[in-house]
Amino acid sequence: MTGVPAGHNQAVTDSSSSTDSSRSAAYWNESHAERAGGSHDNFQNHPLIQAYVSLRAFGSMVGHLDVVIAELRARTSPGDRILSVGCGAAVKERALARALPDRQFIGMDIAEEALESTRQSLADEGVLNVSLEYGDFNRLELEKGRFRAILGLGAIHHVEALEAFWEGCHHGLTSDGALLAQEYVGPNRFQWTDAQLEHCNRVLDEIIPDAHKTHHRQVVRVPLDTIIRIDPSESVRSAEILETCEASPLRIEGRTGAGCALLQPVLMNQIRTFDPTNWEHNLVLSQLFVEEDRLMSAGVLGDDIAMFVARPS
Ligand SMILES: C[S@@+](CC[C@H](N)C(=O)[O-])C[C@H]1O[C@@H](n2cnc3c(N)ncnc32)[C@H](O)[C@@H]1O
Repeated sequence: MTGVPAGHNQAVTDSSSSTDSSRSAAYWNESHAERAGGSHDNFQNHPLIQAYVSLRAFGSMVGHLDVVIAELRARTSPGDRILSVGCGAAVKERALARALPDRQFIGMDIAEEALESTRQSLADEGVLNVSLEYGDFNRLELEKGRFRAILGLGAIHHVEALEAFWEGCHHGLTSDGALLAQEYVGPNRFQWTDAQLEHCNRVLDEIIPDAHKTHHRQVVRVPLDTIIRIDPSESVRSAEILETCEASPLRIEGRTGAGCALLQPVLMNQIRTFDPTNWEHNLVLSQLFVEEDRLMSAGVLGDDIAMFVARPS
């Protein structure tokens, strides 16, 4: 098999294929239902990958959401409203809401069925400070200054109308508000660069034992029409997130990168073969970290995951 995702997996721009909101919503309703059943395989869920990402991005083993909690605590006040776009099943938002019970979290998503079941689970768990609203972030219409903070936690890479999105966030934020993002910013539609293909395939040959190649033995660029057919919003303009934000009325105040240009194509959909309590497996992952770091230091690979804060200018 090749490096094709279980749902999707791989990258180049094709702005001609406009995102079909209803197809995205259908895809995500189904995908969230599968995740609720436990079938989701996100390479960043592995604890050692989380540690690597944290060390790269923050220089310490702090949890990714703990960073968001600390930022929100510093940048917002009790009673403030915080919007999280593309919240899905609100897994991250409920953790944030528990840590900051005096802030009001509003999750927005296009997958209505997923929102309905998420509402129910929030009620069952007694989480009172998260409410969910249906919304399409390609047509963001926020009330002026309604939010002290806007979060993009693994969702902005699904935004096609980036320029309008940043304008909408600027409009919806208070003048002292902030947008906090943790996002995939790698190649559009997972059309991996030549350097990624070369080095991912080399490490798959040289470093990864066959037992871990349950999904793919090779990384390839999945044809654009395949990616688009599965989910038209997948990484639709991910590589343009930072530059379009810079060019918007928001100003990027701080940013950090977390690598993953080698890790993601190699491990996507096969991270489950790595048992965090197996030190042989952890040694293989550590060898990948060394390789990715070496390639990044040599300027061969960049950051495919970025964390940034932007503020109204
Ligand atoms: C990769 S998931 C991330 C979910 C969640 N933030 C997380 O990290 O677990 C992307 C989310 O964006 C939502 N989405 C996709 N297109 C959207 C749109 N046009 N408007 C609003 N949400 C959308 C999907 O339904 C999905 O929940």
